[in-house]
Amino acid sequence: MVTEPSSSSTARLFYALWPDAATRDALAALQAPVRGRKVPAANLHLTLAFLGSQPRASLGVLARLLDRLPGPAFTLTIDRYGHFGKARIAWAGPSAPPDELTWMHHALAHALEAAQVNVKSAGGFRPHVTLARDAEAVDARIAAPVVWRVEQVVLVESVPLTGGVRYEPLAGRLLA
Ligand code: 2AM
Repeated sequence: MVTEPSSSSTARLFYALWPDAATRDALAALQAPVRGRKVPAANLHLTLAFLGSQPRASLGVLARLLDRLPGPAFTLTIDRYGHFGKARIAWAGPSAPPDELTWMHHALAHALEAAQVNVKSAGGFRPHVTLARDAEAVDARIAAPVVWRVEQVVLVESVPLTGGVRYEPLAGRLLA
């Protein structure tokens, strides 16, 4: 696959929870019963906020916003499949999102608002890991939940490739 020239003055950006290697493998295993265009394992993540196209000149400010987020690491239990019917997205997520995730999302939304950054949000925050696109509803249950120790929040660039997309973490914040 070929990366388009990245000399563009804008970048397509989002903030996400980024799994460690073992959690990534466990999330990828959840794709087994899913029918659709599966997300490559390297791309699996949980989006906190989608910014869309932003000037590259803002990257420093956007990276520093990570320092304004709550610090403690937390545990996220991915224990259910779901399906966004209109978007035809099959996903996995927590049936009971932990408070720390809600606080993280709120803190990020406030920090972005204070920095006057426009966020593309469609309705409320519905934490999920997209497993496949053009997908049917998943006719399965998660037998062994993925217990994700969330230790990292990242600012990611979505780099278009011919026939796909690569997610490039640009900056990260380690949670203690
Ligand atoms: P997702 O979270 O359902 O997978 C990068 O495109 C990430 O931002 C994807 O994970 C994507 O969807 C999420 N995202 C949220 N809103 C989006 C939007 N309006 N357009 C594209 N991606 C969006």
